[in-house]
Amino acid sequence: MKSRFLVANWKSNKTIAEADSWLESFKSPAGDHTIILCAPFTLLHFLHERNRALVLSAQDVSPFGQGSYTGEINAQQLKELVDWVIIGHSERRANFGETDDILKQKVLQAKSAGLRVIFCVSDERETVPEDADIVAYEPVSAIGSGQSEDPRASNEIIARLKERIKIPIGLYGGSVTPDNVASFIRQPAIDGVLVGGVSLDAAKFLQLIENASIS
Ligand code: PGA
Repeated sequence: MKSRFLVANWKSNKTIAEADSWLESFKSPAGDHTIILCAPFTLLHFLHERNRALVLSAQDVSPFGQGSYTGEINAQQLKELVDWVIIGHSERRANFGETDDILKQKVLQAKSAGLRVIFCVSDERETVPEDADIVAYEPVSAIGSGQSEDPRASNEIIARLKERIKIPIGLYGGSVTPDNVASFIRQPAIDGVLVGGVSLDAAKFLQLIENASIS
């Protein structure tokens, strides 16, 4: 079985106290999957100091470098705490007006600071900047709805996407659970999953990892 990427996206959830108790319950799982935790900016320093088992990621990055951009967190600042960043999540496109041009700038900033990029699309025809390291296909109707897409349909879309954009690693995201994770990662073109809701509960996320490991 090839090693997969199991990516937890906490979105805008958890205080430091809640992150602490999540870590307490999250025992280092066996297996050789790469487990990445995408946490809010406010938790990254705490998680960086406290956790050794998980690779850390941010959920966003400024399209600008250092300077007069009040409220922004730039890629160099992130590089002190994380190895990865998610760019282009559909929630950022829909709620924060992020366009292809802005997303391209974010990827440029991230890559020039040495971050690796998980770039999200909700449709196989969307533009993907060529420097992204991983593409995550997340159909909007499947996100947070409990209605995941059919794994074989996702596999075909991810296979075509990877071929078109020449990025070798493709993830599926959208209502992935401990019960359905195996059906996704068994697919030949799917190299891992991006998990929102289920990742907020350490026991459920561990179960998901375990089910991914025995599939
Ligand atoms: P979900 O979210 O697992 O809660 O559907 C996935 C995501 O948006 O990354």
